[in-house]
Amino acid sequence: MWFHQENPLPESFPHLNCKMHYFIFIKNQLYCEDLKVYDLAKEFGTPLYVYSKKTILDHFFKIKRAFSSIKPIICYSVKANSNLSILKLLVKHGSGLDIVSGGELYRAKIIGCPPKRIVYASVGKTDEEIKDGVKYGILMFNVESLAELEKIDNIANRLRRKVDIGLRINPDIESKTHEYIVTGKKESKFGMDFHTIESVFINRVNYPNLNIVGLHIHIGSQITQAAPFIKAIKKVLNLLKKLEKKSSLKYFNIGGGLGITYDKEKPQTAKDFARRVIPLLKECGLKIILEPGRFIVGNAGILVTKVLYLKDTPKKRFIIVDAGMNDLIRPALYNAYHRIVPLCRNVKLKRKSLKPADIVGPICETSDFLGKDRFIEARENSYLAVLGCGAYGFTMSSNYNSRRRAAEVLVDGKKVYLIRKRESYKDLVDKEINLLNPR
Ligand SMILES: Cc1ncc(COP(=O)(O)O)c(C=O)c1O
Repeated sequence: MWFHQENPLPESFPHLNCKMHYFIFIKNQLYCEDLKVYDLAKEFGTPLYVYSKKTILDHFFKIKRAFSSIKPIICYSVKANSNLSILKLLVKHGSGLDIVSGGELYRAKIIGCPPKRIVYASVGKTDEEIKDGVKYGILMFNVESLAELEKIDNIANRLRRKVDIGLRINPDIESKTHEYIVTGKKESKFGMDFHTIESVFINRVNYPNLNIVGLHIHIGSQITQAAPFIKAIKKVLNLLKKLEKKSSLKYFNIGGGLGITYDKEKPQTAKDFARRVIPLLKECGLKIILEPGRFIVGNAGILVTKVLYLKDTPKKRFIIVDAGMNDLIRPALYNAYHRIVPLCRNVKLKRKSLKPADIVGPICETSDFLGKDRFIEARENSYLAVLGCGAYGFTMSSNYNSRRRAAEVLVDGKKVYLIRKRESYKDLVDKEINLLNPR
């Protein structure tokens, strides 16, 4: 048995002056709301995604309250966590949805999201996806290129519809985050530069089947300070001044991107962010749209995993667990840090008597790790929780190494609901056609 003690789990974050999530230790047992996570692991097996309903709603209402003076349309970004039960929960409480694919539109329809609460971004919308969006009557497509503008105009013409669109601007803004999630720099594939946007307004007779009703920015993800948002918004305000009477704009969509605490980050609160940007947003006189994803669900989910083996090599110590990079790819992809804690902690353990260990999965890749050089209490068959996995966790998971995707459960006080079954081996091969042995 090894005893490793991580930094104590912050149960509330004094700098935020609020509770960040409802995963807390009570008598050294990790709870999600009123349920012991260990019991959930035993009941549903591992790897297991566990979400807290209270945390999700808490964050949604934090944004809503912070911006209440301008009553924005909040379109939760489906890509962060697209489980139907979570979408339904948010839509039921007044959220709209920000989607990026036909699949996300399909989800939005299943849960009955009103079409006028749906905005659709993505640099590569297909004809079929555009048609589906037009037919459903979504609020607007956020258009990312001149070629896409032409395509939507043609499709609208064929369907004999006038289609509302927003223009996604690439404001060329630096934001301090991982380079893979920067989306507002001119080198990135997203949006159009200011010059192109102006030319679209000048030549808008070329798009007789479109109403240009919105401007859209989304400068990146996990941005912890307001400054880059402010810079981008100011650039858009300048553009608006230039356009003035030429435009029939109604909406300004400032995207998502609000950062959360994974480790020691001290991100702006929704309240601070709102205080800084609202005066600017009021200037533009347009209805504001927000597209938060990570902020709402990021700290509302954990990934529970079982320790399979402990392994010492001459160089390193490994804790081998049953969750791998197919379940949570963020560490491998972005070198992202996730706090990892045992479900049952031993507070008497002294960190200095312990060796650091890498927490790794069973996948045949060296990048298959969940955490490196951690001081964690672990023993075979014990359980660990990887925190902050509610956003871009399950949605980025895969079947790599023919591994079944994890189950997902939603905790609501003393109740737990299975919201996605663990995949079966049959699920893994169901869509394949075995030429040698046709069924
Ligand atoms: C257009 C758009 N809006 C919103 C989001 C959500 O970002 P976040 O989860 O950082 O809030 C994304 C994420 O990539 C996005 O591409």
